[in-house]
Amino acid sequence: MQNKATTRVLEAIRKFYEHLVEPFVGREEEARAITLAILAREHTILIGEPGTAKSALARRAAELIRARFFKYLLTKYTEPSELFGPLDLNALREGRYVRITRGKLPEAEIVFLDEVFNANSAILNALLSIMQERIWYDGYTEIVVPLWTLIGASNRVPEEPELEAVYDRFLVRQYTRPLPESKWAELLDAGWKLEAGLTTKPEPVLDMDTLRQAHKLIFSVNLSRIKHKLLKLYAIFEERGIHLTDRRKTKALKIVAANALLEGRLEATEEDLTVLKYIAPHDIEDFDRVLVILSEELKMPEKYLRELNEIRANVQEAAKLASMLRSYDPRLVDLFRSLKIAKSRVLSIAKDVEDESVRTLAEQVAREIDEVLEKISYKLGM
Ligand SMILES: Nc1ncnc2c1ncn2[C@@H]1O[C@H](COP(=O)(O)OP(=O)(O)O)[C@@H](O)[C@H]1O
Ligand SMILES: [Mg+2]
Repeated sequence: MQNKATTRVLEAIRKFYEHLVEPFVGREEEARAITLAILAREHTILIGEPGTAKSALARRAAELIRARFFKYLLTKYTEPSELFGPLDLNALREGRYVRITRGKLPEAEIVFLDEVFNANSAILNALLSIMQERIWYDGYTEIVVPLWTLIGASNRVPEEPELEAVYDRFLVRQYTRPLPESKWAELLDAGWKLEAGLTTKPEPVLDMDTLRQAHKLIFSVNLSRIKHKLLKLYAIFEERGIHLTDRRKTKALKIVAANALLEGRLEATEEDLTVLKYIAPHDIEDFDRVLVILSEELKMPEKYLRELNEIRANVQEAAKLASMLRSYDPRLVDLFRSLKIAKSRVLSIAKDVEDESVRTLAEQVAREIDEVLEKISYKLGM
């Protein structure tokens, strides 16, 4: 049972995701990655070529949360003072080493660092402890920072060993690819609106308090049903040369639980393990390899339900067409053939998938196909 407060918190999280994804085309994965990281109080990185809406997504995420935000585009020449604030010269004269941090990273809850792997080693070192311990070591002082989530963007996966440690701390990784040709028409419309400023700046839908409550809920998600499968997946990844550090193996659980919450559940199911697609990949090639492993290993009811509904819509179209065609029209033969193929697909889904709702729908669609097949056979004088 969910109490009212829980329901309200889960609704706010859902709303955040929906508002985040809304103006973009084909950026559901990116929006989910950001949402999960924020829920889990972890860091996330979008890796991809320029112009794929990485910055726009991060900006929108920040607008949707009532939080202190800091963003910066890093170059090789970026100095620590640009991120952490300039040295306070008055204090320095008195022999104290203090930075003026107002409006800078040390005071921000949500941070966006574009081209984060351009950071020089002084910045990288500071980022490491800030990301890991939420402590900023500056000169002689140790300061606890309010950072909740760091969103990074980069056009590449780093190869330099000194960047590896920072990369490992981005628990949630998403490879942001340019849209496929089938989405270009939609992109023009959506991009036009964004460029023209027709997409109004959204009102925040989350505040830090609600976010903290949502974050706490993560630890009440029941994970008992998926642990066994998770361990099996870790073994498969390792076997296929996809290595997760122990840190990532542990923290992955938080993202699994966060996904259950985003789906309005307090119990994790196999479907939630699909979030490993954001956690297991290291190199660019890994993103596809992990997807293949997950789709082999996980039964995903949602996916099958979607496919069945698509088949069902096609069957209804076919039924309409069949009723318009005259007897012995050769097109009836084509319809008959494709319905036969659709039916064997539906039956194989019904056989392979254990999920109750998938089975029921598959049986229903199979019956509907049979009805249309019967009508066509009649018209064909079979
Ligand atoms: N998938 C998309 N949906 C809608 N608009 C997009 C999409 N991809 C790119 N755009 C348009 O291109 C602009 C550039 O994106 P930007 O966030 O600067 O990319 P990046 O940070 O990845 O280089 C966006 O502001 C938007 O107008
Ligand atoms: Mg950018």
